[in-house]
This record gives sequence, structure tokens and C-alpha cells, in this order.
Amino acid sequence: MPEELLAVLDFGGQYSHLITRRIRECEVYSELLPYDTSPAELRKLNVKGVILSGGPTSVYDHDAPKCDPAIFRMDVPVLGICYGLQLMVHVLGGAVKETERHEYGRTDLRIKDNSDLFKGLGSTLACWMSHGDYAKALPKGFEVIAESDNCPTAAIREPSRKLYGVQFHPEVSHTEHGKEIVRNFVAVTGCRPSWNPRSIIEASVEQIKAKVGHERVLCAVSGGIDSTTTALLAARAVGDKLRCIFVNHGLLRENEEEVIVRTLRDDFKLKLHYVDATDRFLQKLGGVHDPEEKRRVIGEEFIRVFEEESAKLGTFRWLAQGTLYPDVIESAGTSGPASRIKTHHNVGGIPSWSRFKIIEPLRSLYKDEVRKVAKELGLPDEIVYKHPFPGPGLAVRMMGQVTGEKLRICREAGAIVENVLVAKGLYDKVWQAFAVVGDDQAVGVKGDHRQLGHVVTVRIVNSSDGMTADWTRIPYNVLEEVSSRITGEVRGVTWVAYAVTSKPPSTIEPC
Ligand code: XMP
Repeated sequence: MPEELLAVLDFGGQYSHLITRRIRECEVYSELLPYDTSPAELRKLNVKGVILSGGPTSVYDHDAPKCDPAIFRMDVPVLGICYGLQLMVHVLGGAVKETERHEYGRTDLRIKDNSDLFKGLGSTLACWMSHGDYAKALPKGFEVIAESDNCPTAAIREPSRKLYGVQFHPEVSHTEHGKEIVRNFVAVTGCRPSWNPRSIIEASVEQIKAKVGHERVLCAVSGGIDSTTTALLAARAVGDKLRCIFVNHGLLRENEEEVIVRTLRDDFKLKLHYVDATDRFLQKLGGVHDPEEKRRVIGEEFIRVFEEESAKLGTFRWLAQGTLYPDVIESAGTSGPASRIKTHHNVGGIPSWSRFKIIEPLRSLYKDEVRKVAKELGLPDEIVYKHPFPGPGLAVRMMGQVTGEKLRICREAGAIVENVLVAKGLYDKVWQAFAVVGDDQAVGVKGDHRQLGHVVTVRIVNSSDGMTADWTRIPYNVLEEVSSRITGEVRGVTWVAYAVTSKPPSTIEPC
């Protein structure tokens, strides 16, 4: 853990995570904490500045979340964003009122002072507003540093205590120079930039060493970047005391297992125990149609195989897992757990009741930070920039039961979708791109023959975190190439469709 921290107190705003990410982009470590974190806890974490996030409530609502007012006397700079500004004003004796015209969207900001928060940013900029309330009267000692047509207190400051408030959202990309505004606040806190891939690696290697000493560590790798990066960090910490185990459930993307085995075993010389359990999984999945049931079967079988195979490697007290920061936050319930639509199984994830003590070196990292760490550790781009992939694998891309035939179609067609996007330079621009297959059969003509074949649905989506997603407006010529290659190259497919639903109302994976 870095020595200094900027805390973001989460009042339930939709952009709370983004604020933390923006601060980390300034190479300063930041954590999203519950809104009622006490000043004593913040001091223990050596907090150098506090940001109060936005939130959906009004400060006058009876259930409005409030932070401890002593935070404003902690002698560290505080920045309130949207609801955070209003809360600061309310708590310190000003007045918050509903605006005559609610502001949602892009608004021009007129800057009145360029000395700190708006340093280097000129006199106007477009910002992103989303509010119904505003600060009508400021507490003693505060002054206005920017205004908009509908909000005379769009940015405020109390210079002696270094308290700041912005009614708009500097963390979203629609606000011009939003990153600079965040950077200027970071500069006010005096935090030094030291949060970068190299320092993250050094710190996490030290932490693992301190925890496990000279004991042996087991790491379950699954084919994805998170577990692979975890394995490499653990290897740096304990060297040949690390054993990796890779259970292939047979539901991976094309060539995925080869790339992982080659990289870990040949390139990084890790001791890898590879188990091809495809037949076991397919057998268990036979006759299972229900999506949730499929996930349950895969999760359970994974644990069974893992227990059996790891026993062959001897006894271990420590297990390294690739848990990421958003998982930690979600299970800690910082802003109330997001409603779960599906049971997400991270195959490779071992349940908490297991006999192991857990090491989670990626526990404080976002996905983009994991990518940077992975790159710094020398992992190849084909692993670093691969699209996210669900733990239960292609099983959730097959409607109905998993069969060998559907699996082949799903895998081959998915590889074509990916390859065409790579060739067109579009792969890195989208969140996920894959093929879905169900049991529908459609009539086609191949050669001069009528043929009954499968319908493949191509799904390509844009997203920033997988929680919401938009279907990608792919150029027609690219779709045409995908379609004609799938019908031409994948045996048993007669139709190709494109999925044009976003999330919500659909989910990204069909099952
Ligand atoms: P959905 O389908 O819920 O997917 O819209 C959102 C994101 O999560 C991935 N996903 C999973 N990841 N285990 C995982 O590790 C799962 O069971 C699982 N189901 C979906 C999905 O690929 C998308 O990125």
C-alpha cells in the first residue's frame, strides 16, 4: 500500500469509481471508501486529501447520507463534487436550494479565478452538469471561483482551509480539461506522483514476501490476464516455491490454453500443472439447459477438479488469486451492492470456505492498471489486450445445452469475429466481440443444396466496465466480411445475425 492516499467518499454517485481512476491517472493512489468513514480511520490511512462524490439524494432528504463534519477540520484539502459540494455547504452553515431550471448535460463554465483549481485553464470551458439543487448561500469564508448561466456557485473555495466544491463533474470525459482540474486538486493536496506500474510491482512483491515468507504458494490460472499477472507477481516474490495450476474446462476461446501454457511454462519458466478436463465438464453439462444451472455445474466441477489436482502437488497454505479492486468494493458494499442479474462465477476463484489463506496482489487495482502492470512484467500483447472473458467460458455463449457441435461453432465463429476486428484495427476499440449459438436451425443454400444449419449471432459491444453496454455500430462491410467468413468457414452454419440490443435491457452474454 502506498504511503499516502487520496480518499474518495462514496455518496452513491454513478461516477464515484471514475473519480478514483482519474486521481490514479495522476499517479497518486486513491481509494473509494464508504461515505461515513471516520476522520480517525482516514488519519490511520494517512489521507492527504478527501473528495466527496456526487450522489442521487438531496441534502434535505431525511435519508441523505452525511459524512462526519469533523472531516472539514482535519486540515487536509477537501473537494466536494455535485452532491459533495452541496453537503459541504449545508454542513458548514450555507443554504442549498432547488434550482429553477435543473441542469443536465453540457454547460458553459465561466472561470473567475485561475490560481489553483483552474490553473492554466483560461476563462471558459464546457463542463458536465447533472443537478437539481445548488448552493444558494455560501458558508462563511467561501468565495465563488466559477459560475454558469443557471448556477452562480458552479465552483467555490474556502482558501484558508483549502475546501473546494464544484457543482459539475470534472471526472467525466464530457468536461473539458476535467483531468487537469483533478490534477490541480491533487497538486493542492501536495501528494507526490508515485503510483505507477513499477512501484505497484515492487510494493506487491514485498507484500507477498512479507506475508508468506519461505512457504509454498499455489496459484490457479485461468487463461485471462488477471490470474496470469497474479502468477507472475507471486513468482517474483517466492520464485520456485510457486506452483501454478491451470484447469482447462474445455470452454475456452480458440488457442487460449496454448498461449497461456507457452507463456508461463516456456517464456517465464513457471512450474505449471496443466489439466485438460474438457471431457469431465462436457459430461457434467450434458442435458443442462438452464443458464444458472450451467454456471453452477461449471463452478462446482471446477472446485472438484481443482481440489483433486492440487492435492497431487503437495500441501499448500497459500493461494494466490486475481481479485480486482471493483470486486473488493462491490463485496464491501461501499455504495450498496449493484443488483446481481447473473451468478458470476470466476472459474479459478476458490470459495472463501476453502482451506487456503489467500493472497490477492491485484486487490487494489483496476483492470487498466492490471494491463499496465502486465505489460511492465513482460506479458505479450495477445494476453494483455485480450477482451474480458467470462469464467464459465463459451458455455454462457451457447443458448440451451452445451454440446460438442455448438461448442465448435461458437469457438470457430468467435475466432473469426475477433480476427476480422483485429485486421480492421477495431479489436482494441470495442469491449467484447464474440459469437453466440443456440438451437435454432435455419434453411440455407450451400452449393445448389438446401441445407439446415445453425444461426450464429454476432455480438459486439462498447462498454467501460461491463455494467452497462451499447451495441457497436460496426461498418456494414466489416459485418459482411464476418458473415461470409462464418458461413463459408464454419461447418453447419447457414445464417448470421447481429445483436442490436444494449445493456440494459439485454445483458452482454446471452446466458
Ligand atoms: P453480463 O453478461 O452480466 O456480463 O452483462 C458483464 C461482463 O461480465 C462478464 N461475465 C462474467 N465474468 N464470470 C465472469 O468472470 C461470469 O460468470 C460472467 N458472466 C458474465 C461478461 O463477459 C461481461 O464482460
